[in-house]
Amino acid sequence: MEQLHQSIIDAVREAGVIVRSADEDKGVKEKSGHQDLVTRYDGAVQRFLEERLLSLLPEAGFLGEEDAPNHTEREWVFIVDPIDGTTNFIKGIPIVGISVGLAHNGQMEQGVVYNPYTDEMFTARRGHGAFCNGKPISVTSNPLADGISFFGTSLYYPELGDRSFAIAKKLFESSLDVRRLGAASLDLCYVAAGRGECYFECSLFPWDYAAGSLILEEAGGIVTDMTGAPLRYDRKCSLAAANAASHQQLLDLIAGCG
Ligand code: IPD
Repeated sequence: MEQLHQSIIDAVREAGVIVRSADEDKGVKEKSGHQDLVTRYDGAVQRFLEERLLSLLPEAGFLGEEDAPNHTEREWVFIVDPIDGTTNFIKGIPIVGISVGLAHNGQMEQGVVYNPYTDEMFTARRGHGAFCNGKPISVTSNPLADGISFFGTSLYYPELGDRSFAIAKKLFESSLDVRRLGAASLDLCYVAAGRGECYFECSLFPWDYAAGSLILEEAGGIVTDMTGAPLRYDRKCSLAAANAASHQQLLDLIAGCG
């Protein structure tokens, strides 16, 4: 498993070269709507990762953002977002995660999230802790009041806007400040690294959170859906993620927003 983990990290680092060397013209297209964008690099990075990862573990299935699922009923499944933070990538905002999770029978076993612009590689294997560039990371023990709160706007679902901003406003009033990074995988890693205390988003796909959720748990954090139920990796979910000291506070605050 350790060798496989290192090989996944190597593949993700190579994918980062594709992202960093992208042309000015990224071939931007709309997917489901005006705010849901894709570039030719999303597809290129996913194809690269699918080939490399399945050569490492040919018996695995593959679930990625940009293409049809491939044997996701299998015991082992790679869950991949080739460019998490596509809008940041298009705009030249250097907050982008290449996210690779490996699930075993529906439970995350490995997670790798790489920001090719900052060269930060966040990694975790179940039971072995979480790391950034090989150094152990851990969540803070701050309560919400002394925390930074990250959130995502679930931008592809405008009907969730009011709820997202109602919760964000409550967090703004209850913590030091709020942040909207634009890449869910990195929101989770930032809480894992103690750069903030909590993160929520009303609706996400498994590829957005698969790797980051394990990295956060291995760093001592707690991640559930917004009702407190365990995450699922086979369908969309809401996310409530925090250090252990403030996770219940986050759930209570969310419940208080109706
Ligand atoms: C999106 C980003 C964003 C989050 C959206 C995700 P994508 O992923 O993680 O921060 O708010 O919900 O879909 O589309 O850039 O891979």
